[in-house]
Amino acid sequence: MVIPQLSNASVCMKDPQRVQDILVSMQKAGSNTLQVISDFDMTLTRFAVNGKRCPTCHNILDDSRLINEECRLKLKDLLNTYYPIEIDTSRPVAEKLPLMVEWWTKAHELLIEQKIKKDALAVAVQESEAMLRDGYTFFFDHLHEHSIPLLIFSAGIGDILEEVIRQAGVFHSNVNVFSNYMDFDELGVLQGFKGELIHIYNKREGALLNTGHFRELRARPNVLLLGDSLGDLTMADGVQDMETILKIGFLNDKVEERRPAYLDSYDIVLIKDETLEVPNAVLRFLTGDK
Ligand code: C5P
Ligand code: MG
Repeated sequence: MVIPQLSNASVCMKDPQRVQDILVSMQKAGSNTLQVISDFDMTLTRFAVNGKRCPTCHNILDDSRLINEECRLKLKDLLNTYYPIEIDTSRPVAEKLPLMVEWWTKAHELLIEQKIKKDALAVAVQESEAMLRDGYTFFFDHLHEHSIPLLIFSAGIGDILEEVIRQAGVFHSNVNVFSNYMDFDELGVLQGFKGELIHIYNKREGALLNTGHFRELRARPNVLLLGDSLGDLTMADGVQDMETILKIGFLNDKVEERRPAYLDSYDIVLIKDETLEVPNAVLRFLTGDK
């Protein structure tokens, strides 16, 4: 293997030779032809720490002082109802899709009722247990140093995720975000969400709405994609004149059930791996750094 970390115990690949060929061809093309597209929740952030789940962008608000107890219980109920559907491989996506829209819509309606203030978000993030994966500093800094664009494409909440990476000191100028952004009234109170809803299964549509971004990056036809859901596989569908794509997938939950589907669709699958060690090793290789 050209990258020793690909022999780590957490790494699974259906076709290691193909991965190697992709890596070599991307390295030859040079890092000035590369763009990185990553999901946020449970991809750049940790899934669990010592067996305890870490929060998603939405959960940061669910667990915060910005919402009352009644609302918190309703949001937890929604999570307990819809999250098992999100990760259920026995149901086709077509059947899950309307239910996911229902989840996001109901949750956003509840959040709007809480009259959340824009200037309270930073404290909610500070007080939360949000945690980026180990190795995040290298990941963000290295991409920045090599002027490689990073698109964070999230069905979470843009304002929250920006705050997480800002507080971690890694919201560099090469980072762009596609996500659900809060819409505040003139008093800074949440009144809705901007634009088309992005949920777990419509990232393709979200990508196609942002042709301008991908047009600017058309000199970068090689893509490193990071995700944790099968819905994340369509995040690169807007990339223009794509030549090569390497897909790395974090398989965090329901591992045995979902392993075959993940191996079929992600080139590298990281099983219960809470770190960015492998993506970082890939980046080091692609940029020719040791
Ligand atoms: O950033 P990413 O696209 O991964 O964000 C989506 C995640 O947010 C989903 O995996 C879902 O489990 C989670 N979610 C949540 N609460 C909601 C809606 C989505 O925790 N109300
Ligand atoms: Mg995710």
